Amino acid sequence: MTQTPKKILVLTGPNLNLLGKREPSVYGAATLGDVGSMCDKMAAELGLAVVFRQSNHEGELVTWIQEAVEGPYVGIVINAAAYTHTSIAIMDALKMTGLPIIEVHITNVFAREEYRHHSYISPVATGVICGCGVEGYTLALRALANKIT
Ligand code: DQA
Repeated sequence: MTQTPKKILVLTGPNLNLLGKREPSVYGAATLGDVGSMCDKMAAELGLAVVFRQSNHEGELVTWIQEAVEGPYVGIVINAAAYTHTSIAIMDALKMTGLPIIEVHITNVFAREEYRHHSYISPVATGVICGCGVEGYTLALRALANKIT
């Protein structure tokens, strides 16, 4: 009997829909579609499935995180983008899930402006990956796979 793969929720926050066009010297040339495909491929290798979502709206991200509490997810990968540095609401929602959470940033936020050094998400995350480019998303899936198997 084949088992349904366990699902990981991959969330991406504001302005990352423009990946590839947005400051490519900072964020690289890959589009969000490319990142979604990379995640699908890595998930398949790990025997997992991903649900990949992006929003420019804080409340929508909070709602999706809330749904993960009752939903079929075994973990969350999140790049909350600028909301990382501002959103207590996203932090509260993530904390409530009780799921393993990997925080991702494409860039090394600690090598950038000081206002990017603080994250509301890191204290409730299981792990943080930053500065590895878009590969950070696939590294996060690997890390979660190790946690949940
Ligand atoms: C980011 C870093 C954030 O500071 C920034 O606001 C983003 C992207 C990253 O992936 O490097 O939008 O989360």
